Amino acid sequence: MGTATNPGMATLSAVISESVVSRLERIHSRTASIGVIGLGYVGLPLTLLLSEAGFKVTGFDIDAAKVENLEAGRSYIHRIPQTEILRARTQGFGATCDFAKLVHQDAVIICVPTPLDEHREPDLSFIRKTAESIAPWLVEGQIIVLESTTYPGTTEEVLVPILEAGNRQGLRARRADMHAETRTFQIAFSPEREDPGNDSVARRDIPKVIGGLDPLASEMASGVYGAIFNRTVPVSSTAVAEMTKLLENIYRCVNIALVNELKILCLKMGIDIWEVINAAATKPFGFHPFYPGPGLGGHCIPIDPFYLSWKAREWDFHTRFIELAGEVNGAMPQFVVQSIAAALNRHSIALRGSRILVLGLAYKKDIDDLRESPSLTIIESLQQQGAEVSYNDPYFPTVGRGRHYNLNMTCAPLTQLHTYACIVIVTDHSDYDYKTIVQEARLVVDTRNATKGIDSPKIVRC
Ligand SMILES: NC(=O)c1ccc[n+]([C@@H]2O[C@H](COP(=O)([O-])OP(=O)(O)OC[C@H]3O[C@@H](n4cnc5c(N)ncnc54)[C@H](O)[C@@H]3O)[C@@H](O)[C@H]2O)c1
Repeated sequence: MGTATNPGMATLSAVISESVVSRLERIHSRTASIGVIGLGYVGLPLTLLLSEAGFKVTGFDIDAAKVENLEAGRSYIHRIPQTEILRARTQGFGATCDFAKLVHQDAVIICVPTPLDEHREPDLSFIRKTAESIAPWLVEGQIIVLESTTYPGTTEEVLVPILEAGNRQGLRARRADMHAETRTFQIAFSPEREDPGNDSVARRDIPKVIGGLDPLASEMASGVYGAIFNRTVPVSSTAVAEMTKLLENIYRCVNIALVNELKILCLKMGIDIWEVINAAATKPFGFHPFYPGPGLGGHCIPIDPFYLSWKAREWDFHTRFIELAGEVNGAMPQFVVQSIAAALNRHSIALRGSRILVLGLAYKKDIDDLRESPSLTIIESLQQQGAEVSYNDPYFPTVGRGRHYNLNMTCAPLTQLHTYACIVIVTDHSDYDYKTIVQEARLVVDTRNATKGIDSPKIVRC
């Protein structure tokens, strides 16, 4: 037993083991080994940041193809250039499917998916399986951090029991009131706040919220994240950190629903909602602009709020804002389809048999992620109503089958636009030349105000 040499540790009253002291020293000197589990949109950029900061980083994933790509220095995420992977490789970054290598890590960060299941209830199977994979390789003094978005309580109620039950050495998750001699590992939750495709804020400048199960866990996690973020925001518990992330996403979801509803009203009233929002946004206080669109997409905003509404049932509590926002946002793809049908109808054209080109598959502009994308629902609905649908998206040469869709389509070239009865802008990628598209098209339905400033009777904004 010993006490930590780092000045921050003066706040910790309990005696801590030599194993923790040396891990903390390695974290603060950036010589620590860090494992990141789940090398997707969140985990891979994180490994690169940690590697750049000097840590020895190992990525863990069950997807052998991802591991193979990374080991060969190849990127599979559009916005991450190959050069970044190669640079990390020269700094010692490696990827593996072998979880036994977790024994060498001082810190382990979990970034696995947290989707909804077929009943739209939290699917924590990825977190559970990951915990089961970590448990046999847990080592005294390690810090385990969960980053996956989830309901308050998951870290303590789901992750910790699996780790405690499954490790071979009888290690316990360290809590503030624990006997000093207990052999422990540390646990924290720290939500990811990335906004894919938004480069206006540098990743370093996004403050990192950290909730430890005890002060030592907060200290260790803050040491790791402090190396890659300019500001860490410690909170008093894992549940507070979990709830913080949900509040942020629910705030977004509810406000988007509000402008989506007002958009439909404004269309009826002949008022341009985008002009209204931009005018309101000049108010220097009390108003934050949100913009309407064809519906929510991505792995976060359409899903995360329902983690909380599910958990709230335990307290017999009905989260009305979440349900209402889900209802309004969920109806937007159908509103787009109805608007396309109405626009064609005004030209005495039926939707059935019409050739429609959908621009943009990704759920938002300039990214290669189509999870929960409203484009998929819109395409399927148009097809069900007999339209002959093509799509164009520079990020997706083909689209196959996913959790909630089965399209099997190939990207159509952006040529012969006059041969389509209607072109629907669902994702406003920056690469598109909207002026030329409007010039060549017969009819354009614009769900994103991408044709702002272009004056043409061919455009229908919805
Ligand atoms: N994508 C975003 O913009 C974003 C933003 C904030 C928070 N989040 C949250 O971060 C978490 C991860 O999201 P993502 O977008 O990176 O997901 P993702 O699907 O892109 O990546 C998850 C990775 O985890 C791997 N994986 C799954 N099960 C595993 C297991 N048992 N062991 C090891 N690896 C496993 C998958 O193979 C995949 O590579 C989610 O909870 C999500 O809600 C995502």
